[in-house]
Amino acid sequence: MIEIPSADRRHLLITGATGLLGSYLVRDLLLDGQPVALVVRGSRRESPAQRVDAQLIHWENELGKRLPRPRVFDGDMTRPLCGLGADDLSWIGEHCCSVLHNAASLNFRGADRAAEPWLSNVSGVRNVLDLVQATDIEHFHHVSTAYVCGLRSGRIAENDLECGQKYGNDYERSKVEAEQLVRAASGPRTVTVYRPSIIVGDSHSGYTSTYHGLFAALRLGHTLLTRVAIGSTSGPALLGLLGIDLTACKNFVPVDWVSAVIAHAVQTPSARGQTLHLTHPEPLSMATLGALIQEAVERFSQAAAADDPDLCDEQWFAENLRTQLDVYRTYFRNDPFFDRSNLEAVAGHIPCPVLDHPTLLRMARFAIEQDFGRLAKPSTLAAKTMSVQVS
Ligand SMILES: NC(=O)c1ccc[n+]([C@@H]2O[C@H](COP(=O)([O-])OP(=O)(O)OC[C@H]3O[C@@H](n4cnc5c(N)ncnc54)[C@H](OP(=O)(O)O)[C@@H]3O)[C@@H](O)[C@H]2O)c1
Repeated sequence: MIEIPSADRRHLLITGATGLLGSYLVRDLLLDGQPVALVVRGSRRESPAQRVDAQLIHWENELGKRLPRPRVFDGDMTRPLCGLGADDLSWIGEHCCSVLHNAASLNFRGADRAAEPWLSNVSGVRNVLDLVQATDIEHFHHVSTAYVCGLRSGRIAENDLECGQKYGNDYERSKVEAEQLVRAASGPRTVTVYRPSIIVGDSHSGYTSTYHGLFAALRLGHTLLTRVAIGSTSGPALLGLLGIDLTACKNFVPVDWVSAVIAHAVQTPSARGQTLHLTHPEPLSMATLGALIQEAVERFSQAAAADDPDLCDEQWFAENLRTQLDVYRTYFRNDPFFDRSNLEAVAGHIPCPVLDHPTLLRMARFAIEQDFGRLAKPSTLAAKTMSVQVS
C-alpha cells in the first residue's frame, strides 16, 4: 500500500545539497515533483540561497527547463539543532516528514575528535537526530558508505556493520559511528541506509564538482606530469610507487546512478528500513585504472617542457609521493564482495551504467580540463559539460 503523507508534510529535508551527490539528488527529486527543503551553510562569498541557486542554474542550463526553488535554511550540522531557529523548526515540523541526511566530511584523516571528520560525521549526525526529534520527522534516510566494512574481505552483507573489523582511515570509523547513532535513534519511525562505493563523475557527461577517490589519484598523475620531464612516470608506475597492488579491484559508481537509486528509494515506502549497497556489479582493476590515468594525462594534461625552469627533479617526485603515500595505499586496497540483494529488490530496474574505457576517459578529461575544480564554479560549467566528448 502506498502511504501518502498529509498534503502539508510532503517535503523532504535534505542536507549536503551543495556537494556532488547532493546536487544530483536535488535535481532528480525536483524533476520527480518531490518538494524538498535544504539545510545548507553559507560559503565565504555566497549565502546558502545563492549557493543553491548557482547549482539550480547549472542544472537548468543543462536540462533546458526551469526548476522550482526549494526552501533553503541556513544551517551547519556542527551546531546544536544545526543552528536552526524556532521559526525554521516550526516550518520543518509543519512541512517535512522525512529527512535525507547526505552531508558529511570526506576528510580521511583526523585523530582529534573535536575536528573533521568527526565533527560533521558524528557530532553532526547527533545534531541532525536532535533536529529530527524536535520536528517530529518520521523517516530518516542516511547516506553512509560501503566502506563501513573497513578492511574486511570476502562477502559483505548489506546488514553487516560492526563486525570487529579494522579500518583504513578515520573517515570510515566516523561513518560507522554515524550509522550506529542513526540506527539506535529513538526519534524516527524508519531508518533507511544507503551505502555507495567510490562515487565518480556523471556517466554521460563526465561532470563532477568534487575530486575525491579516483580523481585524487588522477590529480597526482596530472600534477607530476606537468612538473617532471615526459617519460619520467606513467600511470601503472605511479600506482606501483604508491605501493598499490595492480591486481586489486576497486568499486566505482557514477554519481548519476547513485542519485537515481536514492531518489527512487526515498519515494518508495516499501524500501524504508532497509540498507542498500550502492555498488557496481563489475569492479575495476587497479591495472585498468593505472592505464587510464596514464592515457588521460598523456592526452589531456600539458606536459612540462624539457627547458621549463620550474621543472622538478626526482627528489621532488619522491617527496611528493611520500606525503600522499599512506592515504592512498589504504584507500586503493582490494575491495571485498559487496552483496547487493536489497539493492536488487528495491532498484534492480535501475541498472548501474557500465564504466567502460570511453566513459572513464570522459570523466578524467572533464577533471583535467576543469583543473580539478580550480577553473570555474558549477553555474558556469553547463555549456562546457555538454561539450566534453571523448572520441
Ligand atoms: N564521494 C564518494 O566517493 C562517496 C562514497 C561513498 C559515500 N559517500 C557519502 O556520500 C555523501 C555525499 O558525498 P559527496 O561525495 O557528495 O561529498 P561532497 O561533494 O564533499 O559534499 C559534502 C556535502 O556535505 C556538506 N557538509 C559537510 N559538512 C557540513 C556541515 N558541517 N554542515 C553542513 N553541511 C556540511 C557540504 O557542504 P559545503 O558545500 O558547505 O562544504 C557538502 O554539501 C556523504 O555522506 C559521503 O560520506 C561519498
